[in-house]
Amino acid sequence: MDTKTQYLGLELKSPIIVGSCGLTADVDKMVEMESAGAGAVILKSVFEEQIIYDIKRNTHVVAPTDNYGDSYEYIAMHVADDSLNKHFQMIRDAKSRLSIPVIGSINCYSYENWLTYAIKFQEAGCDALELNMAILPYETSLSADDVERTFNQIVNTLRKSISIPISIKVGTYFTDMAKQMQQLSWMGIQGVTMFNKSVQVDIDTDTETLKNASWLSNPDEIYNTLRWVAILSKKMRCDLSASTGVYTPEDVVKMLLAGATTVQVVSCLYKNGIDTLRTLNEGLQQWMQGKGYDSIAQFRGKLAVQPNDKASVAMRTQFMKYFAKIV
Ligand SMILES: Cc1cc2nc3c(=O)[nH]c(=O)nc-3n(C[C@H](O)[C@H](O)[C@H](O)COP(=O)(O)O)c2cc1C
Repeated sequence: MDTKTQYLGLELKSPIIVGSCGLTADVDKMVEMESAGAGAVILKSVFEEQIIYDIKRNTHVVAPTDNYGDSYEYIAMHVADDSLNKHFQMIRDAKSRLSIPVIGSINCYSYENWLTYAIKFQEAGCDALELNMAILPYETSLSADDVERTFNQIVNTLRKSISIPISIKVGTYFTDMAKQMQQLSWMGIQGVTMFNKSVQVDIDTDTETLKNASWLSNPDEIYNTLRWVAILSKKMRCDLSASTGVYTPEDVVKMLLAGATTVQVVSCLYKNGIDTLRTLNEGLQQWMQGKGYDSIAQFRGKLAVQPNDKASVAMRTQFMKYFAKIV
């Protein structure tokens, strides 16, 4: 049974990989992930504000901190001065102890001089870089064109800055999701990760302050990702990594049938432990065996919308089937 997968040009022994999170800031935990069958690990993100802080501290370049407001102040107050050096040391340690690919991660939201820093992830030994584009259309002054322009500027500059493969992690807030994702895949990057889960904001009614809702996703959050992976996987010119709501071997199989190249897990490891990776891999292999598949390529994308088919027709058909049933 062969679960080997090519992702971002890297060879993975399994398509099940660990998404960026607190667990992937700890090399011992990543060693556990590898022995439980993870195909690759995506490291905990470094934030753009952290990089700007470091640039300012080390070079005395006047970094444009006005853009960042409280988030920059938070970093300046709470992050140890050498946090980035520690991060790069962690990458070197991970590379020396793991044989699976180690993918670096940066969380960004603007086009600024933090981009020059990406080379340090490559120099520290990352096999690829996932850029979490946390650009959300919160401002009433921001149009879809503005967001697209920032995306393009960042991706083009990043491509010139590093030679390791690049994956872009995106959120769900696009007016023209299909078009944007396809165009992104034409920009010479190697992968798109769908989707980033933005922090849910809640309100504490006792203290009358804002607070974060739970960070962890629920199993039923899988459906939005599943839909978009099925719609886009055969229409993109790069790999697609599926993220959000994956908990069971069946979820992994569904994402692969929809056309995902890799399937990321995070919340399920927090809730059920790192060893869940073993259950996911064994379940995938059992399913393949039951179906008589020898390799992932034999079934990946079997249920994706075909390149020349209209997604709207496929999705409308599903809607009509359901609608017909309940009438
Ligand atoms: C505790 C925690 C920390 C996270 N940190 C990051 C991060 O640093 N960078 C990032 O791109 N995503 C981060 N994420 C988001 C995950 O990578 C993933 O996209 C999201 O949790 C949805 O996947 P899941 O349903 O498997 O949890 C984090 C998620 C959790 C739960």
